[in-house]
Amino acid sequence: MQLTITRPDDWHLHLRDDLALKAVVADTARRFGRAIVMPNLKPPVTTVAAARAYRDRIQNAVQKGLAFEPLMTLYLTDRTPAAEIKEAAASGFVHAVKYYPAGSTTNSENGVTDLQKARVALAAMEQYDVPLLLHGEVTDSGIDVFDRERVFLDRHLGPLQRDFPGLRMVLEHITTQEAADYVRSAGPRVAATITAHHLLWNRNEIFRGGIRPHAYCLPVLKRERHRQALLAAATGDDPRFFLGTDSAPHARHTKEADCGCAGIYTSHAAIELYAEAFEHVDALAKLEAFASHRGPDFYRLPRNEARITLAREAWTVPNELPFGDRTLVPMRAGQSVAWRLVDPAR
Ligand code: DOR
Ligand code: ZN
Repeated sequence: MQLTITRPDDWHLHLRDDLALKAVVADTARRFGRAIVMPNLKPPVTTVAAARAYRDRIQNAVQKGLAFEPLMTLYLTDRTPAAEIKEAAASGFVHAVKYYPAGSTTNSENGVTDLQKARVALAAMEQYDVPLLLHGEVTDSGIDVFDRERVFLDRHLGPLQRDFPGLRMVLEHITTQEAADYVRSAGPRVAATITAHHLLWNRNEIFRGGIRPHAYCLPVLKRERHRQALLAAATGDDPRFFLGTDSAPHARHTKEADCGCAGIYTSHAAIELYAEAFEHVDALAKLEAFASHRGPDFYRLPRNEARITLAREAWTVPNELPFGDRTLVPMRAGQSVAWRLVDPAR
């Protein structure tokens, strides 16, 4: 059996930089036409000039013959000036601004300490119609790690929508039923991305037979009822749920550590893993809308014209993949994936 769909896009991706970038970018470029590239480098991408230079490095790292367009983002800080947002809107290659609560996740130290401090930038984003991408978690140590997304919705999303009614927002990598419900009730300006790992795994995966650092990501995996709710959202008809892998490569030794990094690498099999998740609930016919149509529609970009083909042929994921002078452990390492990309570029 084969499945041919419009070439998909990845609306949430970590490509890193330098040797790491060179190691991972082909996995995305083979499968996806475009990707929204996260700005949480060290130092973070806070200016249009830095985004332009990073875009150049990404394009140089993509092998010839692969048509892949990185869609750049800026990293919101307490001090992002309105002029930077205006320049981003005019640039033609910066497509969104990313909000990380300070201290929430990998390289978020320079993130926003208080949304009130970012009001000037948020008002400019509303004015120039630059979408805000939200890492929607609170960081208070008193809030249980499994509740951080829900509390963020309760505390911050209503006020944000009230204060900036024209601002378009994407709740990134949603993990809970509450987030899916919020998006459904929030009107046309609020959308959400959903990862393959949150569709395929519940939180038991973190503790399956022992502690599994390669199943640790943020927001952390949740209960089975939340996974079911995400599957219903992804495979349903609401156009505001679309594909974002949040593929986040880390070298093996930084995850298998006393304090392991958050992030799951899925780019090596991304669209194939989504196909599996959709097939499990008999919804393969909905994959193209989720992966290839709704994202560009929300971002007001044309849908891709090229197509890709997947074959229902199992293959085994390597135990590890090269990652610069290190290695990384991809999702499903040493196990099989049911779908295979029929790759004309290979
Ligand atoms: O698991 C994650 N990894 N979540 C994030 O928010 C950041 C990402 C990363 O950059 O590694
Ligand atoms: Zn991310």
